Amino acid sequence: MPNQPILVLNGPNLNLLGQREPEVYGHATLADVEELCRTTADGLGHEIEFRQSNAEHQLIDWIHAARHGAAAIVINPAALTHTSVALLDALMAYEGPVIEVHISNVHKREAFRHHSYVSGRADAVIVGCGVNGYALALRQAAHLLG
Ligand code: DQA
Repeated sequence: MPNQPILVLNGPNLNLLGQREPEVYGHATLADVEELCRTTADGLGHEIEFRQSNAEHQLIDWIHAARHGAAAIVINPAALTHTSVALLDALMAYEGPVIEVHISNVHKREAFRHHSYVSGRADAVIVGCGVNGYALALRQAAHLLG
């Protein structure tokens, strides 16, 4: 439903973006990422809802609400990518486009980051593009929404 917003979800520890391991994740803060997403979505003619939580259940509740409230989901599940079947199941119950984003190239990192449960549902996966990956994800979401 193109008149609904695109939900941009961020998982655990992404509230510390800019302070946390800047050599891996860069210097942009989550507020910078939100601004980038708003500007990008604006240019594409879409609204966004931008959210972050450190709690798995909160992310799951937002995905449930998105079933009737969001045209697409862009999600950086952070560490839950590699652990959460529950997040995968919640996304399986969502019918719109899902784009998975990782700031770092998880495949160049520790082996435990190479597997993503969320990729089993994602329509596209963007890794290693830094925070610009969010802009790319929104472009792809808009493209899929037509
Ligand atoms: C991340 C990669 C994950 O492995 C990690 O746990 C994160 C961030 C990324 O954006 O590169 O918290 O999703």
